[in-house]
Amino acid sequence: MREGTVTLTRREDYVAPSHWIRSVDLTFELEPAKTLVISRMQVEPNADRPGEPLRLDGEDITLTRVLVNGNSVSFHFDAGQLVLEKLPAEPFALEIRNTCAPGKNTQLSGLYTSGGGFFTQCEAQGFRRITYFADRPDVMAVFKVTLRADAKLYPMLLSNGNLVESGELPKGRHYAVWSDPHPKPSYLFALVAADLVCREQKIRTRSGQDHTLQVYVRAGDLDKTEHAMNSLIASIAWDEARFGLKLDLERFMIVAVSDFNMGAMENKGLNIFNTKFVLASPATATDIDFGNVESVVGHEYFHNWTGNRITCRDWFQLSLKEGLTVYRDQEFSQDMAGVASARAVKRIEDVRQLRQSQYPEDAGPMAHPVRPDQYQAIDNFYTATVYDKGAEVVRMMATLVGRAGFRKGMDLYFARHDGQAVTCDDFAQAIADANHGSALAERLDTFKHWYAQAGTPRLKAEGSFDADTGRYTLTLSQHTPATPGQPLKQPFVIPVAMGLLDAAGQPITGTDRVLVLDTASQSWTFDGLTAAPVPSLLRGFSAPVILEWDASEAELFTLLGHDTDAFNRWEAGQRLAVQRLLAAVRQGGDLVLDEAFVSALRSVLNDPALDAAFKELVLTLPSEGYLAERMAEAGEPIDPQKIHAARESMRAQLARSLHADWVTAWEQNSQTGGYRPDPVSCGRRALANLALNMLVLDGVAHGEPLWQGKALQRFKDAGNMTDRLGALAALVHGRSSLAGAALERFHAMFSGEALVIDKWFALQATAPEQDGQVFAQIKVLARHPDYSLRNPNRARSLLLTMTQLNPGAFHRADGAGYAFWADKVQEVDGFNPQLASRMARALDRWRALAEPFRSHARTAIERIAAKTDLSGDTREIVTRALA
Ligand code: PHE
Ligand code: ZN
Repeated sequence: MREGTVTLTRREDYVAPSHWIRSVDLTFELEPAKTLVISRMQVEPNADRPGEPLRLDGEDITLTRVLVNGNSVSFHFDAGQLVLEKLPAEPFALEIRNTCAPGKNTQLSGLYTSGGGFFTQCEAQGFRRITYFADRPDVMAVFKVTLRADAKLYPMLLSNGNLVESGELPKGRHYAVWSDPHPKPSYLFALVAADLVCREQKIRTRSGQDHTLQVYVRAGDLDKTEHAMNSLIASIAWDEARFGLKLDLERFMIVAVSDFNMGAMENKGLNIFNTKFVLASPATATDIDFGNVESVVGHEYFHNWTGNRITCRDWFQLSLKEGLTVYRDQEFSQDMAGVASARAVKRIEDVRQLRQSQYPEDAGPMAHPVRPDQYQAIDNFYTATVYDKGAEVVRMMATLVGRAGFRKGMDLYFARHDGQAVTCDDFAQAIADANHGSALAERLDTFKHWYAQAGTPRLKAEGSFDADTGRYTLTLSQHTPATPGQPLKQPFVIPVAMGLLDAAGQPITGTDRVLVLDTASQSWTFDGLTAAPVPSLLRGFSAPVILEWDASEAELFTLLGHDTDAFNRWEAGQRLAVQRLLAAVRQGGDLVLDEAFVSALRSVLNDPALDAAFKELVLTLPSEGYLAERMAEAGEPIDPQKIHAARESMRAQLARSLHADWVTAWEQNSQTGGYRPDPVSCGRRALANLALNMLVLDGVAHGEPLWQGKALQRFKDAGNMTDRLGALAALVHGRSSLAGAALERFHAMFSGEALVIDKWFALQATAPEQDGQVFAQIKVLARHPDYSLRNPNRARSLLLTMTQLNPGAFHRADGAGYAFWADKVQEVDGFNPQLASRMARALDRWRALAEPFRSHARTAIERIAAKTDLSGDTREIVTRALA
């Protein structure tokens, strides 16, 4: 993708392929410097497009031979594609030989080496970096793969499907032949040749089928694979129980690799994972890591049906598989969490994530619909919008047709489209057709605006109560701001789950409903009320909108204290905090916390009926990034330093005024016994860590050593990584003088554990900024011998962590944070454009910044844009940012 010319691909230009490739027989002679690839394909002209040339994609590979039905033919290259003309009108055999250089593939797309082994990554367009092919998802072929490699260096030879043959070869080499019976697009191809060990488990499913499950890792990591295996087993059981979807392979493999651009990849039968989302042991992984492993293992497994059995017609339909599969993994995690309160915690975390990453995207230069209309580099569209907003779109459909209706819709989707490459429209149609007369089917065309229109809708709510008639009228109206290329928006279909509470916070019977707004504005009435009710709107976050509701403080306190919907209880607390924080930012000067707010939080913290996990969420202040977006929504320039100062001030005051309550929370939750990553113990550890963090913060502020000492002791004695890292974070983030030695000790303890060293960097990169010290330390760490930009996890641990999670350190009035960032983006772009273009997103929202941040940001982006050999990936990001 290093070509100078930028081409735009448009959704409306889709045409079916000129030829189908029905089968591929691949042989690999694996060597890091030069790998030989022989591809023998059965090609069938598409009867709808007779006589057209066959165009095959290829990138950074060397062609050595082309044969059609065994004879050499003429060919030429056009725009990077290999073009074959005057081909037979009947099906024919095509043989291609080429070489590639996996050892030099620093982009980690295609065939590359990592830790002395060979791995592949083909989504979206990596297969063309392995061999010439119709590298598009609507061309589906049956693959047979022969791998030949040195037997000592690469004892494990894996590919998709089933192992059909293996054996020795001369000169210390060996081979394996794999065959995958399911036709698949090239992006789902995978191979692995490496020195790995595996955890294996045989299972028999509910329907009585036997399967072999394997998790492959490097030799020292076997003791960290149990949780991934259990998560896989749980995923298989869940998909069968919830959606009637069975594993369709005898063998299912997961392979961990430490150099990986993304989280994980759903290659048919051979999922390849970033080590971060496979390896977990109590000593090295936190509760969050355990949760992530479960959800990513689930996500990739669920792709076997939603992605692999039914795939995307073209990459504009990416959310067809990603939005749906994120929805499925979110549901899986909720079901695994079990009880309602734990499900709500997961929902709050998912929404927080959506608002933290997708809302800014939808408000910035990269705003695009869930089903984009155009792209320069498809890699840039693996976004929060396609994934997380896409999942919300599926969730709204499920809300509109009900749980049973959604299952019927999924059944119809598979009945219609199994084995096909289809579109988002096909999915929505199936859900609607299975639910005639439903709230979705009645307004399907309007609903599909969610696929077509970018931008986050503003949902305005106004209530009025008529004491004479006892009638409450709720008026909902919607408005969506313009986004690049889309000045005007049609109304969306917005399901609004709601209910009314009385002034004492008790639910008013018969008022729980799901209102469906599908026009610019609409009113609903509730009769028979004796007093003005408190509305609880958008329960469970029933639509991905911004709720503009002018709630009184009293209403918010009522919701926080009493709502039956846990999401809205949390949301009310966040609103109360946001109002105070933004008022402080606007007025300047000191933030003085009122007793009403403090005592409401105190009640939550001390409420024996609430889960610790929920308390931790309520007591965690909205992030600086979230606060920044709220300012931008109100049309006010973002001053990240003022936001940082206000939030730090509020944290310090909560640390002080709730001191006794934090002590109680610590005492009640800090001992969780033997490690188990279940929701109750995870919640208790999270709350204990927050309490410790606050107590250390307060101790440092007031020169009291007690809690710093306790934190250090906890750090030393901890029986698991969650407790250990939590205690270390309390010291580092609280700026305790004990932090330095503890950091050193931590580094020495885990020097051989790459994923833990990533945490060591990330922890320091998230320390609350004070007087530029944190940024200075980040720059020092960037020169640490353990730091490297080549490994994506390590690169992200410092840089993306700073730009995404530490606005106070990144956004400096002198612009030094941006300059540092620009240097690193340029450097990474030279060898890994996908990683660089992700990093380049950090200043998407530069136009919303106040001065002097805004000018410095522009200068830094312009500097990146000025790099002459910038990759197409990064160029698309900076061009859009500056447009
Ligand atoms: N398809 C992968 C997933 O969401 C993500 C991915 C995309 C991985 C591109 C690698 C490259 O599960
Ligand atoms: Zn996915």
